[in-house]
Amino acid sequence: MKKFIYAPRHQSVATPIYSGTDIIDKLATPRFLKLFTAVYAVVDERVHELYSQSVLKHMLDGVSVYVFPRGERYKSLARLQRLLNWLWENEADRDSLLLGIGGGVVTDITGFAASCYMRGVAYVAVPTTLLAQVDAAVGGKTAVNLRNTKNVIGNFHVPQMVICDSRFLSSLRTEQIKEGLVEAIKVFAASDRRLFEKHASMSILMRKVCVAC
Ligand SMILES: NC(=O)c1ccc[n+]([C@@H]2O[C@H](COP(=O)([O-])OP(=O)(O)OC[C@H]3O[C@@H](n4cnc5c(N)ncnc54)[C@H](O)[C@@H]3O)[C@@H](O)[C@H]2O)c1
Repeated sequence: MKKFIYAPRHQSVATPIYSGTDIIDKLATPRFLKLFTAVYAVVDERVHELYSQSVLKHMLDGVSVYVFPRGERYKSLARLQRLLNWLWENEADRDSLLLGIGGGVVTDITGFAASCYMRGVAYVAVPTTLLAQVDAAVGGKTAVNLRNTKNVIGNFHVPQMVICDSRFLSSLRTEQIKEGLVEAIKVFAASDRRLFEKHASMSILMRKVCVAC
């Protein structure tokens, strides 16, 4: 398991990001989860279908689960309100923990819900697409769309940790892997231009992406 610390310049809090295979149960241990009064998991519908009885079985044991419908159109204010109602009806309090388990849609809206429910509750992101693992779930940016415009309403809410388990990636489509790799290259180029230029020109990396896919 690898651990990275994400410490943005404009924020005082740093986020540990863990990456590896078979790491969920090592990090979301019963001891960790017991630090909170209750745990509420928002799980992407497809991810729930594929992994609730395997990769996520222990993590979801005894946890309230909201199965989140697939698609960008659900990253909306209306769905946010439903999510907040669900938390309220299930008696979430300010010492509760929210888990966002899915692609960027689920991590964005769950992170936003965590940032505003009772003025902010603890949040752990479990990104399940490559794009969400390299970008969307990292860095604390959360949002929902307004009408047809993306990410108009949002907030910064730093997760307690981000768990990037590679077991989720095997069920992604080739297109999704490509999107994630392109995003990873963009993040690398933007975060350390000198290192990026030293080690690889964009064209070599792009060729590797094409070969990998
Ligand atoms: N907050 C940020 O900094 C940031 C950065 C980049 C993108 N984003 C946001 O991320 C969103 C896009 O994220 P995305 O590409 O992950 O899309 P997504 O969350 O819509 O997921 C894409 C599809 O993949 C499915 N899926 C998820 N995990 C899977 C798995 N392991 N196996 C099989 N299918 C799986 C989902 O059901 C969905 O149908 C956009 O809303 C974008 O605005 C946010």
